[in-house]
Amino acid sequence: MRLPRLLLQLAGVIVALHAPAVLAARSVSIDEVAGERPSGPTVDTEGSIVCFVVRTYWGHGDTWGDKSLRRILASLQNQTVGSWEALLIVMDNRPFPELRKIVREANDSRIWVHAEWINYKYAPKEGGTWAPNYHNKLYNLTDMAVRACPDNSRWVVITNGDNLYDSRFVETIYSAPPDMDAVAVDFYSRYQRPTAEPCERFEEGEGVPPCKENGMRFCQTDLAANAYKLQRLLAEDRRFGLVDPGGTHGANDGIMAQLLKTAGWKIHYVHGRCLINHAPSPQQCALNGGVWDDSVMAAASSFGGSCVSAKNVIERMRTNPDAYELLELNVTYDRNSFAYADHPFIELRCLRLANRSMWYQAETFGRVCAARIDVPQLPANLPPHPWDAWVPIFESTPDDINAQLPPLAGTESAEDDGDEGADQWHHVVEDGSSGNDHTEL
Ligand SMILES: *[C@@H]1O[C@H](CO)[C@@H](O)[C@H](O)[C@H]1NC(C)=O
Ligand SMILES: *[C@@H]1O[C@H](CO)[C@@H](O)[C@H](O)[C@H]1NC(C)=O
Ligand SMILES: *[C@@H]1O[C@H](CO)[C@@H](O)[C@H](O)[C@H]1NC(C)=O
Ligand SMILES: *[C@@H]1O[C@H](CO)[C@@H](O)[C@H](O)[C@H]1NC(C)=O
Ligand SMILES: *[C@@H]1O[C@H](CO)[C@@H](O)[C@H](O)[C@H]1NC(C)=O
Repeated sequence: MRLPRLLLQLAGVIVALHAPAVLAARSVSIDEVAGERPSGPTVDTEGSIVCFVVRTYWGHGDTWGDKSLRRILASLQNQTVGSWEALLIVMDNRPFPELRKIVREANDSRIWVHAEWINYKYAPKEGGTWAPNYHNKLYNLTDMAVRACPDNSRWVVITNGDNLYDSRFVETIYSAPPDMDAVAVDFYSRYQRPTAEPCERFEEGEGVPPCKENGMRFCQTDLAANAYKLQRLLAEDRRFGLVDPGGTHGANDGIMAQLLKTAGWKIHYVHGRCLINHAPSPQQCALNGGVWDDSVMAAASSFGGSCVSAKNVIERMRTNPDAYELLELNVTYDRNSFAYADHPFIELRCLRLANRSMWYQAETFGRVCAARIDVPQLPANLPPHPWDAWVPIFESTPDDINAQLPPLAGTESAEDDGDEGADQWHHVVEDGSSGNDHTEL
């Protein structure tokens, strides 16, 4: 892979960071915009809907948050197929006073608040880390909300209030063959190619997928990017809150995906289309003029990396000029998703540690988390990961990204490195798709 342009000089860095967003959206005339709107899709929903369960909290609001709740609701209202409803749920120790106003102003009978649970018992964090059981409590409430979906719901999608849907998402779910039990769509994610080199893991290139491939398995899926057939979910009484009783993992979606596949659910994969933006994503960070901080990629507090302001980066580079490298690279993206077609390319500024020996190691994420194209590059001596055995190769379909995985290397364990592997695992299992992304604001 070509090395991205490296912005070495601190002075140069500051100039570059102060420049207005690297790319202004190409200006288009009103006529062109109107012309881009597709004529009505031919989807027969037979009066059924997609039921979105949206988990939200004050951090998605206007005054104290990132205003993302309005954006996700607008992205649903902009769907080419209007047969959906959105049930909002809140579980937090801090109230979300703007919630009703946001819902009222959406002025849409398809959007309603199902539950607003505010109590000190629902504090997501305790002393900076996830409160024990928070994920499972939220999943328990999620399971109740799923059961409150309207009777005419054919599909259910569980998501977070700061995600975004491409206008064709609902249409795409409905275009799955009728006998399918779940639809798995590729998605923008900070866990894109987690075993590849920091920052460069987002770079476009020959054969690189436009975003994270949804493999419907642990570390390779996202709750928000999957639609489940509601009837079957209820008939089998599937509950996300029960699949990971330890509760520390927050990987309930990945575990559920494995269980459903094992139970013979038919999965329709939509590969190469990136119709969900799971916040924060490097693509959206670039377009918002942020800098991707990949120096914290493996840190528990900002697992997967985070989007930070240029100011923040300047400050850190000034204080610690030798510690960091700032790169500029073109990120992968699906030109047919969101409004990204307006951009001939998307340049991302990305920060990583200068000292390579301090980069996170491939075993932090392990074989289970490696993107398909990175599997051949995995070190031969990669220690086995506790979740390796979860990869259900035996039932792969041609669309299943697991189908292309080479057989697992010998499973006897490598030399023990002490407890570090196990500790790291507790960070890893967050999976990029877990509950509430409180850390990401
Ligand atoms: C709300 O929507 C209805 C119909 O969809 C419309 O008639 C009304 O003007 C809208 N109200 C506001 C405040 O936008
Ligand atoms: C979730 O609900 C189940 C019962 O359905 C209960 O056994 C479990 O303790 C709940 N989990 C939490 C963390 O409250
Ligand atoms: C991104 O791609 C464009 C078009 O190919 C190119 O002009 C630009 O230099 C690239 N940016 C980077 C940082 O490589
Ligand atoms: C709304 O959908 C159209 C296509 O259906 C798309 O071109 C446009 O970017 C979308 N707008 C927003 C704000 O998502
Ligand atoms: C890079 O990090 C390693 C491990 O922490 C350390 O031993 C080494 O001295 C560092 N190299 C430099 C140039 O700072």
